[in-house]
Amino acid sequence: MGDGESLPRGPAVHPYRGLARNFTSLIGAALAAISLANIVFLVLVSWISSQPSPYLGILAFLVFPAFLILGLLLVPAGMWLERRRRRKRTPGEISKFPQIDLNRPAQRNALAFFVASSAVFLLLSAVGSYRAYEFTDSVEFCGQLCHAVMAPEYTAYLRSPHARVPCVDCHVGPGAGGYVRSKLSGSYQVYAVVFNKYPRPIPTPVVNLRPAQETCERCHWPSKFYGAQLKVFYHYAPDEKNTPRQIRMLINVGGAEPSAGLPSGIHWHMNLANQITYIATDAARQVIPWVQAKDMQGKVTIYTAKDSRLSSEQVNQAEKRRMDCIDCHDRPSHIFTPPDRSVDESLQAGRIDASLPFIKQEAVTVLSNTYATAAEAQTQIASEIRQFYQSKYPQVDQAQSQSIETAVSDVRKIYQSTIFPAMKTDWRSHPDNVGHLYSPGCFRCHDGQHTSAEGKVIPKDCNTCHTVQAQLEGAATLQVPAPPTGFSHPVDIGDLTQVNCSDCHSGGVGP
Ligand code: HEC
Ligand code: HEC
Ligand code: HEC
Ligand code: HEC
Ligand code: HEC
Ligand code: HEC
Repeated sequence: MGDGESLPRGPAVHPYRGLARNFTSLIGAALAAISLANIVFLVLVSWISSQPSPYLGILAFLVFPAFLILGLLLVPAGMWLERRRRRKRTPGEISKFPQIDLNRPAQRNALAFFVASSAVFLLLSAVGSYRAYEFTDSVEFCGQLCHAVMAPEYTAYLRSPHARVPCVDCHVGPGAGGYVRSKLSGSYQVYAVVFNKYPRPIPTPVVNLRPAQETCERCHWPSKFYGAQLKVFYHYAPDEKNTPRQIRMLINVGGAEPSAGLPSGIHWHMNLANQITYIATDAARQVIPWVQAKDMQGKVTIYTAKDSRLSSEQVNQAEKRRMDCIDCHDRPSHIFTPPDRSVDESLQAGRIDASLPFIKQEAVTVLSNTYATAAEAQTQIASEIRQFYQSKYPQVDQAQSQSIETAVSDVRKIYQSTIFPAMKTDWRSHPDNVGHLYSPGCFRCHDGQHTSAEGKVIPKDCNTCHTVQAQLEGAATLQVPAPPTGFSHPVDIGDLTQVNCSDCHSGGVGP
């Protein structure tokens, strides 16, 4: 060079020297370095902070590692491209494939460095993958990350008896299969959230929920249930005095394990000795016209609803579901309590002052109204309750203004934790199937209208599932009628075994 003669083939090229000094590799190296620095920083932050945000996890364990790997791949890719470019410029001088000669110290060192750094990288990525696995299974990831979408379920979960049970224990179940399946559907869900394509409310029931044997039964042991359990129901009448009412009831929780005694009571259905399969004609599984019971001896009884018989063709084609825990306990963790019950609980706990006239009725009414947004609900609830006392009970408004304000704040809290207008989620969209007061529940089958060809009926007698021990109304003890009714209804509505409680009791405005 330097003799003025132009070199048609360019300067003599070294096959390796400076190979990494090309645009692609440099970008790759920079990307990898920045990502690594970010990961280290975020991991440090998540160690230091007591309540790390789930976004931190998604960056530290998913996003930056992806960029790190991309960067690390770009480095050799750029080198390979550069080598190819050099080979094209100087045909013949550079062999097609790199020659590795371990007798040359430079190459030996390079290889040793490559092997050592690969080993370290593999080790770190194993740790990282495990943390990513743990993180994508965490309650924060499930409940908070898509906070707008999951707010109803997450809020209800935090107040439920299962608030300490991770989401995945019920929704994913153990094993790699469950993990992969959940991450596959999870990827679709992320897409749905990003592009605002998710349904409101999130549909229930969850079609592909793991069978209860793999989730609930890992903690709850079906064969341990037996006998009856006392439960007290507290109510306050929708009258001026908010008259307290009490129902003390023995619930025949029963058992299902034949070796522990005859299967009996409510957990009779629990599959151990008896199998129940049914057909629901609606997506929410609220309308059940066909039920099949198979007992321990294998004897099959088919019950059909009087008013909506399915043809044998419809029965053959329909999807049949085997009954398990979730067909009754559909709200073990996401309990959207009806206003009627929420307000009764607050009155019973003293969070709302029961001496405020008509507070039961007023609170249930404002909670049942429709509001466009949660924020609007908060303002309206306050102004409506205040206005009620200002206009109807000015003396109370003066004398008990503190109680009124406490009631206002409690009713607002009830709204916040059980009713979610943005996701159209509340007790109406997500009924609880245990019981029968506010939604058909047990009466989906036990309505006295499901009969077999031999004339057997799925029983509706009021003492099949529970026995009322005592009933109080204000200070008075009521006379509990004999079976088959066994319950004294506050107002005369005729034969109790002929009515559907949820026809009148909606859980919202009304009784
Ligand atoms: C104790 C078990 C359990 C736990 C813990 C649990 N879930 Fe659920 N989840 C259920 C059941 C049961 C259903 C309803 C299934 C049905 O009706 O088919 C459900 C339904 C849902 C639904 C569908 C909408 C609905 O309300 O029916 C979403 C969304 C959901 N869960 C999210 C979560 C999130 C997020 C967490 C953790 C914060 C969580 N779940 C924790 C048992 C659980
Ligand atoms: C990881 C263990 C675990 C799993 C899984 C689990 N539970 Fe529970 N469950 C508990 C514990 C612990 C309690 C008791 C909580 C308490 O008393 O505060 C409980 C309480 C309950 C109760 C009584 C609630 C009440 O109001 O007192 C019901 C009903 C129940 N679980 C049903 C279910 C169903 C249905 C499933 C499956 C969808 C399920 N559980 C899954 C641990 C679990
Ligand atoms: C036919 C409906 C039905 C089915 C199916 C069912 N349960 Fe129940 N379970 C009930 C009722 C009703 C109660 C009493 C609840 C109450 O009064 O609050 C109850 C009570 C419970 C309790 C609380 C009992 C206690 O001693 O504290 C647990 C825990 C429970 N069920 C778990 C399960 C599990 C797990 C399964 C599935 C293996 C299951 N249940 C299946 C209806 C059912
Ligand atoms: C999918 C339909 C279906 C639902 C929902 C249902 N059951 Fe049942 N239940 C049956 C069938 C069928 C039988 C068996 C009737 C027979 O053949 O004796 C039965 C029997 C029972 C028995 C035993 C009755 C006896 O004679 O000893 C009890 C108790 C019971 N159910 C309680 C409940 C409770 C409580 C609920 C609601 C939490 C409920 N069931 C929901 C279908 C259902
Ligand atoms: C198939 C079982 C079953 C039958 C039949 C049944 N019940 Fe119930 N009932 C239940 C269960 C389960 C609960 C408890 C619900 C809960 O824990 O929230 C309940 C709760 C109640 C309550 C208390 C509700 C509350 O919130 O205060 C009353 C009152 C009641 N039943 C009356 C009746 C009457 C009257 C009949 C007869 C027409 C009847 N039940 C038939 C299962 C049944
Ligand atoms: C025809 C409508 C109707 C039907 C059906 C009905 N109820 Fe009622 N129920 C009422 C009315 C109205 C009240 C309120 C009376 C009052 O206090 O002013 C009431 C009050 C109650 C209360 C007291 C609640 C409170 O807040 O004070 C209970 C518990 C109750 N009913 C249970 C049942 C059960 C269980 C069934 C099903 C077997 C049933 N009801 C069916 C109309 C009905």
